[in-house]
Amino acid sequence: MAADLLLAIDQGTTGTTSLVLDTEGTTRGRATREFPQHFPRPGLVEHEPEDIWQSVLESVEAALASASIKGDRIAAVGITNQRETTLVWQRATDKPIHRAIVWQDRRTADTCALLRERGHEPDVKRTTGLVLDPYFAGTKLTWLLDNVDGARERAERGELAFGTIDSYLVWRLSGGAMGGSPVHATDVTNASRTLLMSLETLDWDAEMLALFRAPRSVLPKIVDSAGLIAKTHGFPHLPDGVPITGIAGDQQAALFGQACFDTGDAKCTYGTGAFVLVNIGEKPITSRFGLLTTVGWKVGSEVVFALEGSAFIAGAAVQWLRDGLGIIRSAAEIEPLAASVPSSEGVTFVPALSGLGAPYWDANARGIIHGITRGTTKAHLARATLEGIALEVTDLLRAMGDDLGKPLGRMRVDGGAANNDLLMQYQADTAALTIERPIELESTARGAAMLAGVGAGLFRGMRDAARMSRVERTFEVAMSANERKTHLDRWSDAVARARSSRG
Ligand code: G3P
Repeated sequence: MAADLLLAIDQGTTGTTSLVLDTEGTTRGRATREFPQHFPRPGLVEHEPEDIWQSVLESVEAALASASIKGDRIAAVGITNQRETTLVWQRATDKPIHRAIVWQDRRTADTCALLRERGHEPDVKRTTGLVLDPYFAGTKLTWLLDNVDGARERAERGELAFGTIDSYLVWRLSGGAMGGSPVHATDVTNASRTLLMSLETLDWDAEMLALFRAPRSVLPKIVDSAGLIAKTHGFPHLPDGVPITGIAGDQQAALFGQACFDTGDAKCTYGTGAFVLVNIGEKPITSRFGLLTTVGWKVGSEVVFALEGSAFIAGAAVQWLRDGLGIIRSAAEIEPLAASVPSSEGVTFVPALSGLGAPYWDANARGIIHGITRGTTKAHLARATLEGIALEVTDLLRAMGDDLGKPLGRMRVDGGAANNDLLMQYQADTAALTIERPIELESTARGAAMLAGVGAGLFRGMRDAARMSRVERTFEVAMSANERKTHLDRWSDAVARARSSRG
């Protein structure tokens, strides 16, 4: 049979999911493989690159098996990945010089504070759209080159390669050191998370390279999100020569996978945290309300920028009810429990369990549960938890509306918690917009497959690829303006309390 299917590899923070899809969007096969997390000290989070690679090998093998196909049916491969996680490896052996430093890792907080004190933040923001925070790859690369013995000298000699996880996977999929001519590339969306790329030129920026002391010799080539990037070589489950034709960071892949192709189109992925991105069109704008500016995708001559806001705790608040408080046994129990009461009866939960992200950027804020009475039960708390998640996202959406000069009218949703009807309805009600939920919630992998399909010329263009993304259900606003105001006022009051209840 002809090669007609798409393989998406979604390399996430806790595991890798591989999906086999046809060009109509039907999922033919799927498999996930998790891998261990390493926490060497508080605030440090690392991944063993070989574990990541094994999870890719195993999930691809299992996804092909679950689709009952061999690798020769794959027409193109798309890659999407946990963003910002930083890796340096030896070009001659593929061996990393250190474990990957994960996006959540805070080890470079002091470096960022120092650069901020020296007044570099405005320049950084203007050039890269980002803020000086250990979240991004730039200071992680500096740390690796400064702290691993001899790394800087080896880098100067051209022996080392830096990359986010997309780069590492492309390198290894295209043969790595064994393959003769491995490809060292990153796509523009991943590069836009490094602090090293200019949003204007979409290329590495000399000033930022100097600021973060990043040698050009370690940098990958920046490529489009769709197009021929590399070909497989020596990968056990695919024939040699299968084209890798799509790459995007996971949040951008979800934006594409949800077909948010027009200015003002937004999506929210509800995972451990919640990530909201809105398409802002072909020109970057600098947020006045604490949001990041990032590249949505570059396909041919079309570049799309996005504003991004994230709430660090979303699904993690539900996990806390389960693991920290023990009031539910599984995450799925939260919806019936919350629905067993008609309202939270004034109980407000601000899930600032690891500070507050955009639009507040208050690392010292503490979570708070406010408004408890003797009549409060675990059902009220469950409901307040779902409401708290939605209200964090509403804050992000309001900041986006303020930046864009008009409120957003609709938002597409994905990620596990988007399955929760009560959460989605409350989201629509408090943000005053229509929520659109797709049939399948794995928009990230779907987006990578769509990009790969576009890059391989399997569609008549981007909009044709949108047939792979279908809305299952919409949630319309059902709350009155007055009631909304009551909820939002109570939330603002609780957020103010969370910000003053420092540890
Ligand atoms: O920026 C971090 C984000 O890309 C991680 O996503 O889904 O792997 O937790 P996820």
